[in-house]
Amino acid sequence: MRGTSPDRVGQDRAGQRELARELGEALGRAGFTYDGVAAALGPVAHAALSRNETLPGLRATRGGSPVETLTRLWLLQAPARVEDVERALPGLLDRLCTAGLLERSIGEVRARVDVRPYAADDADLWVASDLTPGLDGAPAQVRTDHVLGISSAATSLAQLTRRTPVGRSLDLGTGCGVQALHLATHSTEVVATDVNERALWLTRFNAALNGVDNLDVRAGSFFEPVADEQFDLVATNPPFVISPATGEQLVYRDSGLPGDRVVEHIVRGLPGLLTPGGTGQVLANWTINADQPWDERLAGWIEGCDAWVVQREVIDLPSYVELWLKDAGLHPATGTLGAEEYHRRYDTWLSWFEEQGAEGVGFGWINLRRTDAADPVLRLEEWPFDVEQPIGPEVAGFLDRVEALRGTSDEALLASAPVARVDLRQETHGAPGAEDPEEIVVRQQRGLRRARRVDTVEAALVGALDGELTVGQVLGALAELLEGDEEELRSAYVPVVRELVTEGFLQLP
Ligand SMILES: C[S@@+](CC[C@H](N)C(=O)[O-])C[C@H]1O[C@@H](n2cnc3c(N)ncnc32)[C@H](O)[C@@H]1O
Repeated sequence: MRGTSPDRVGQDRAGQRELARELGEALGRAGFTYDGVAAALGPVAHAALSRNETLPGLRATRGGSPVETLTRLWLLQAPARVEDVERALPGLLDRLCTAGLLERSIGEVRARVDVRPYAADDADLWVASDLTPGLDGAPAQVRTDHVLGISSAATSLAQLTRRTPVGRSLDLGTGCGVQALHLATHSTEVVATDVNERALWLTRFNAALNGVDNLDVRAGSFFEPVADEQFDLVATNPPFVISPATGEQLVYRDSGLPGDRVVEHIVRGLPGLLTPGGTGQVLANWTINADQPWDERLAGWIEGCDAWVVQREVIDLPSYVELWLKDAGLHPATGTLGAEEYHRRYDTWLSWFEEQGAEGVGFGWINLRRTDAADPVLRLEEWPFDVEQPIGPEVAGFLDRVEALRGTSDEALLASAPVARVDLRQETHGAPGAEDPEEIVVRQQRGLRRARRVDTVEAALVGALDGELTVGQVLGALAELLEGDEEELRSAYVPVVRELVTEGFLQLP
């Protein structure tokens, strides 16, 4: 909380917890839910707010109802009348001011931190964080210990995370605690860590605000607060911005380590934190160097784990530097820098990238599953296309299939009767009127929405495997049909069946 020292907060933790609990009850009574706010704003003002424009929202929320007052106060960062706030949050105004969530002047109340509803996993939560910078084109500069709210990266990781019930889970670099709140719904115990005391404060506050009592919030850098501990699930959205790590740093995005060293450090350290079979999921940026393929470089960081790494996007270096200079409020149009200083910083960053031999930046998902197997499966691929969200079940399925296949011999696979996924569609491409297609593609409609170019044998396999016939029977029938050698067909297509299972086109019984 701005103006509230972490020390004082520490001394009064029980009081703050009680305040957060009472605030949660009041917000519920006020109907300050995601749907309640969306209804108060209406779709047009809601869309305007997503562009950081508040005026349509201010026009839509003049009625003085509790949900309108709270929306104006927190989402639109507008002053509200004392009597309206007292009606929306009966008996809480003075304590919220003392705690640093609100501030009061004569007749008016303003927000000092953001509190907003967050619809997650069929639950309505509230999340307190620092105020969104840059509304209505105001300078976007933030303090170095700024605590992010629900960013698009946070949502991406939440959607990526495996949601099967687990014992212990870890949110490393918790910020406002959003991942920890999700983890708390399917973990017996969650540990949330951060180096930023304000973040820890807000995470504790958010836990109490949402009635979460299985969250252990700890201060410290990287693995330090959890040394010698193990987790069934680790989800982390680390401060992954790639920079020379010189100059002023914003803790929510700058790790203090140069380049993508922070991601390498986490990926190398994760296996030691995971229980056998445990899953680690990292949202990350990585440097793409001119002298080494990105996948080869990242594969070199991974040990003792099966891995599914997906590069979702490649960003050219100028776009990357512009993005993060703007994010720090350093663009002349929206920040405080003049054009000359902006160019100097832009140039320094690009020159540093050039010295590193970088030619782009990758963004994506690193999913690890600890294994003691001698032959861990490392799959690193590019998939920049739209996927079905949440993608977490697909990640869980992929890692589980890799594990299941490891324990399945070729003979067992031939004797098994997998079934083709029901959402598959076959596309054939070719010249109009041609007897045979030039290309056959099998496409998933759900999950990752993979598309796979297949030959006629593969297409026939996928078409025929219905859970009744075994792989061996289908290949035998195809050998007869094609007048080919059954043994040859088996040795050529058993590896293909493995790939089809791994990629989710076929499901093992
Ligand atoms: C990108 S934010 C992610 C916040 C939140 N988990 C989310 O998903 O939105 C990165 C977080 O890592 C924290 N952090 C930075 N350096 C750290 C370090 N050395 N060890 C642990 N956490 C760190 C920052 O304070 C920040 O809260």
